[in-house]
Amino acid sequence: MNPTLTQFGAQMSKLTGVRAIMKDINETLRAGKSREFINLSAGNPVILPEVEQLWRNCTAELLSSAEYGEVVCRYGSSQGYRPLIEAVLNDFNPRYGLTLTDRNILITPGSQALYFLAANALGGYTQAGELKEIVLPLSPDYTGYGGVTLIPEALRAYRPTLELGPDPHRFKYRPDFSQLEITEKTGFVLFSRPCNPTGNVLTDDEVNRISALAAPYNAPIFIDSAYAPPFPALNYADMTPIFGANRVHCMSLSKAGLPGERIGIAIGDANVIQVLESFQTNLCIHSSRYGQAIAAIAIASGALADVSLTVIRPHYQGKFTTLETTLDEAMPKTVPWRLHRAEGAIFAWLWLQDLPMTDWQFYQELKQCGVIVVPGSPFFPGLREDWLHTQQCFRISLTATKEEIAAALRRLAKLVDDVYRQSEVSDRPPQNQVETGCQV
Ligand SMILES: Cc1ncc(COP(=O)(O)O)c(C=O)c1O
Repeated sequence: MNPTLTQFGAQMSKLTGVRAIMKDINETLRAGKSREFINLSAGNPVILPEVEQLWRNCTAELLSSAEYGEVVCRYGSSQGYRPLIEAVLNDFNPRYGLTLTDRNILITPGSQALYFLAANALGGYTQAGELKEIVLPLSPDYTGYGGVTLIPEALRAYRPTLELGPDPHRFKYRPDFSQLEITEKTGFVLFSRPCNPTGNVLTDDEVNRISALAAPYNAPIFIDSAYAPPFPALNYADMTPIFGANRVHCMSLSKAGLPGERIGIAIGDANVIQVLESFQTNLCIHSSRYGQAIAAIAIASGALADVSLTVIRPHYQGKFTTLETTLDEAMPKTVPWRLHRAEGAIFAWLWLQDLPMTDWQFYQELKQCGVIVVPGSPFFPGLREDWLHTQQCFRISLTATKEEIAAALRRLAKLVDDVYRQSEVSDRPPQNQVETGCQV
């Protein structure tokens, strides 16, 4: 059958951003059965034994409790499972000196769903026909934002400034306040902190400036805290979540070991929460209560915050150290490569300045060396201007083993050397040319 799709149907049945590349990666892995690839593209978190055990224990506790039937055999409130909402209040109010009530909290089926609700309740055309924009103040950012709006023209991202050094091979993105436009056209602002793909953490000052710019226009600021403290606490630089005023703090339990259960948590102004809750009721009624129930147990006991600090954060931070050390040792000194400063998340972001090919071409060459990373261009959803930088970056996942990361990056460094040398000699007579790539 080939039914006629609506505009929304056509829009939503397209694979966007990194999901389109994942198709190529999965086909490569399938086709290359005889060939061992080191896959540094994965976004799925590592199954850490201590974390798995925590969820197993919570499940055992739920199974043996009188509450079990209430949890899985009944519908519940769209706002979320009451013991989970209470566990969040009892954790966050004393931890951050807040006075949140249950009206400030909404549980969603994963945080991607939360951004879908926000994108279509607060972005797009108003009843008066005005376009309200979804502002991404610092591009690159999470590729999934490219797929959440039914109105693609609503998404607008801004190019950042690049802070270079002090190390010649490091850099950091900063919001460019001289370009950023937050106006009466802004529906809401959205950014990840720590950021997927770059690991960037916007400073408190930057977050407060963005919130202050949006406040006069009644525009909420959704802070995607999928990697933030207190869980999964995947921040390597000091950071404190910022609540209140027009900010909506958005959490995910996916990187705290529960991606399969789909738990997102929004904490914000009661009116904004109410709008999202009604939207959710229409969409899917509520998130799975089994996942919510085990999350309630893990948060109420303090075990989730503990395992985040003692197991999850050190695991990925150790991987980042391996990656950084390997690149510093193996990368050619003369090539202008730069790694984004490691401030959080489960990825590294590599910028190959003046790369003499596109990110997609380099990704293909690297596959010939048996290594898969993610080309950077899909991580600039909503950016409307041409910017060569978008084709010079790569996201490298920290989910492989340290040995795999080190081996893969040595191969990447060799390819970088070949590719830049090739471009240097390409103007010379053919007999001086070097061969690029591994062709193994
Ligand atoms: C920054 C960011 N936001 C949101 C999500 C979506 O997470 P969830 O599993 O909660 O839908 C991800 C997933 O990788 C992410 O990296």
